[in-house]
Amino acid sequence: MRWLVTGGAGFIGSNFVRLVLKERPEIDLLNFDALTYAGNLDNLADVRDLPRYKFQRGRIQDRAAVELALADGADVIVNFAAESHVDRSIVDSAPFIDTNVLGTQVLLDAARRAKVGRFLHVSTDEVYGSLGKEGYFTETTPISPNSPYSASKAASDLLVHAAVHTFGDAAVITRCSNNYGPYQFPEKLLPLMISNALEGKPLPVYGDGQQIRDWIHVEDHCRAILAAAERGRPGQVYNIGGHAERANLDVVREILRQLGQPDSLIKFVKDRPGHDRRYAIDSRKIETELGWTRKWNFEDGLADTIRWYQEHTKWWQRIKDGTYQAFYDQWYGGR
Ligand code: NAD
Ligand code: DAU
Repeated sequence: MRWLVTGGAGFIGSNFVRLVLKERPEIDLLNFDALTYAGNLDNLADVRDLPRYKFQRGRIQDRAAVELALADGADVIVNFAAESHVDRSIVDSAPFIDTNVLGTQVLLDAARRAKVGRFLHVSTDEVYGSLGKEGYFTETTPISPNSPYSASKAASDLLVHAAVHTFGDAAVITRCSNNYGPYQFPEKLLPLMISNALEGKPLPVYGDGQQIRDWIHVEDHCRAILAAAERGRPGQVYNIGGHAERANLDVVREILRQLGQPDSLIKFVKDRPGHDRRYAIDSRKIETELGWTRKWNFEDGLADTIRWYQEHTKWWQRIKDGTYQAFYDQWYGGR
């Protein structure tokens, strides 16, 4: 079998590529990635020489490059490629529309022309907007995105829905909550806080820090995507969650506690504009229909992740010393 994975050099994509190569020996995998600031081939250093793995650099909105990637056909496409950081979408939403919306359209059209058997679109719980104190997002919760990032992801989901409805494409959408784990770019909450704490730098907490996210280990997310790609029903949406709702401030305090650093490193900064208050996922559909279950609980997963960042300082220091610093100064400098 041939699978095309887009965005496989990023955080979740690289964890997924490693999982597939390890557990599905019958699959040849082409990783198609633009290598933006978030794409890093070091993430796949341990598998890059496997004969079943190939890499092609390209942008999903580039029709010719996508057609080249599909020249030998594909049984399955898994689409991770996206601009993924909410704060960057507030600074400049243009790349989000370009990649997340236009890119998904180009990929869907190319997949149809190449008669790809299955299209798995990796989406997010943020398309549902924000919850109050009670309740959960289900697959029938109306889409109501609040940030340029989530609006672009919602638009891509609607394009996938239209492709199923109009052309009968065998596409499936997954919507997951906040991931954490190895190889996460240190702009996101957990790796930013862990690496800042390791460096003894301030930990910037937005607003009152009482926003709630539902944390899931990246490995559990990847196994859910694999199940949905292999066995999900075309046209269906599957929510994926960690069943681990935590307030940001509690997570940050726990990181400091585990690292033996003082709470005084916490610095409350100006809130993210339009900041969603609470996400929580009802994932019973994928559990009952596809038999997916979580392996990680948040406490063990967080301890394991902290250990990974302690053992891979070179990996994140190289990123933090590079072009990421310019965004950090621009975004946090004025807060
Ligand atoms: P990431 O930013 O770490 O990685 C994105 C990858 O996509 C990078 O390798 C980048 O080079 C590549 N890419 C970007 N633009 C591209 C383009 N135009 N063409 C080809 N490749 C391109 O992102 P992530 O956190 O791994 O997220 C992956 C996917 O999962 C995204 O679609 C995101 O919306 C979704 N998602 C993320 C989370 C999360 O918590 N991180 C949760 C739910 C869903
Ligand atoms: O819910 C799924 C989404 O989770 C994915 O679709 C996105 O790609 C992913 O980036 C993530 O979005 P969030 O905005 O929830 O993640 P982030 O790590 O940026 O922030 C998590 C929470 O922490 C959020 O409430 C904002 C807060 N935060 C974040 C940063 C970077 C801070 O308080 N300080 C910070 O410096």
